[in-house]
Amino acid sequence: MGDKTTGGSNTLSIRDNRTNKEYEVPILEGDVIRAMDLRKIKVQDGDFGMMTYDPAYTNTASTRSTITFIDGDVGILRYRGYPIEQLAERSSHLETAYLILKGELPTQSELNTFVRDVTYHTYVHENMIKLLDAFRYDAHAMGMLISAVAALATFYPEAGNIQDARNRWIQIIRLVAKMPTLAAFCYRHHRGLPYVYPENEYSYTGNFLNMLFRVGSNYKPSPVLERALDILFILHADHEQNCSTTAMRVIGSSHADPYSALAGSMAALWGPLHGGANEAVLRMLRKIGDVKNIPAFLEKVKNKQELLMGFGHRVYKSYDPRASIIKRTADEVFEVTGRNPLLDIALELERIALSEDYFVTRQLYPNVDFYSGIIYEALGFPVEMFPVLFAIPRTVGWLTQWEELLKDDEQKIARPRQVYLGSAARDFVPMSERK
Ligand code: CMC
Repeated sequence: MGDKTTGGSNTLSIRDNRTNKEYEVPILEGDVIRAMDLRKIKVQDGDFGMMTYDPAYTNTASTRSTITFIDGDVGILRYRGYPIEQLAERSSHLETAYLILKGELPTQSELNTFVRDVTYHTYVHENMIKLLDAFRYDAHAMGMLISAVAALATFYPEAGNIQDARNRWIQIIRLVAKMPTLAAFCYRHHRGLPYVYPENEYSYTGNFLNMLFRVGSNYKPSPVLERALDILFILHADHEQNCSTTAMRVIGSSHADPYSALAGSMAALWGPLHGGANEAVLRMLRKIGDVKNIPAFLEKVKNKQELLMGFGHRVYKSYDPRASIIKRTADEVFEVTGRNPLLDIALELERIALSEDYFVTRQLYPNVDFYSGIIYEALGFPVEMFPVLFAIPRTVGWLTQWEELLKDDEQKIARPRQVYLGSAARDFVPMSERK
């Protein structure tokens, strides 16, 4: 990070009123100062120096990045500069994945190679099936998938060679390719159905739908549903420094292999405040059950007894652009599958919430998870698969962010500081003297 301007004016003057000393720290690109520049602020020599205190990193930039841009005040999301609306309309998930991973849209031949490589790495070792078979019939799909991805690290020990760019790329291809296969196997296990192996003639999402839903030989993925899922995958492919991406970067900063790091970021995603919110939204809509129960439910939300799942975002303080696209996609899906009755509850919840003072003053708008679950349910997915459907495309973002971290000379092992408020030093008390 360099100075934005020259001439010394682009600095921040800090006066420490404890000592009456003045300090100047450079203001860098992005209107940030380096936290380490505050360390020179001390009351006396020998002090540790000043730190910033920022629980949940609400005002801390942990990296410079060139991958995804969000302007949360006006609802803008771009991957590598391309607006999400254009990508959702004109691109495919694998083309967008290439864009995110490599930084530029692929030429036709680059795309062909990428698609071919992903297609040819979709199979998983047969022992993975034994691993999945060991889970109970009702095991949560996300728990199974996290374990399966962590297990992959043991099948590819060379993945630990994270400094080798070619080796990293092979693991990236493997992960992008195998996630749908593993996810579909988790679903088939849950249903007690035989596993369906990948078929090379299908698209990325067509192959996934086939592995999920084929029974006998009479399944053909609907092109409308295949495309809808592809759009959902594009929308979920990256979202800059969110909780799970931060987990990926933190784990990656210890130079763990990408499978282990990815399993950790998936665990972070699973929580109901993050990617598990889509599952929580569906459970909430079912619990509300009827439009007439909405006012009573929203009263509980305003009294802080409930969260309105699928609403609110750390960064978006306006409508999440992904939610708008999902809402439009839902109509196309419902033409094939029939309308999901939960949509009426969701639409009415949104209508009331967007006009009520509690939500307006807190700038709470629908996020990506508010409508995605309704489409997933219409597509035939059980709620346990919803976070899985988030994790498959986000694999692209996690791996891109992981590579960016490894190539960034300024990054080191992640290791925040703390403000210790516990006991001062004291002597061990023998058991007989304890009260
Ligand atoms: N329902 C009711 N109140 C809410 C909600 C909600 N969904 N979200 C935030 N608030 C309130 C919160 O209680 C606080 O109120 P007050 O000022 O009175 O204390 C205020 O709004 C500010 O919220 P916050 O908790 O400080 O915001 P945050 O940035 O820490 O949390 C969030 C962001 C997404 C975790 C939160 O909005 C939330 O829990 N939403 C529901 C879960 C959800 O939908 N998560 C999916 C996020 S998008 C997908 C992804 O993870 O990428």
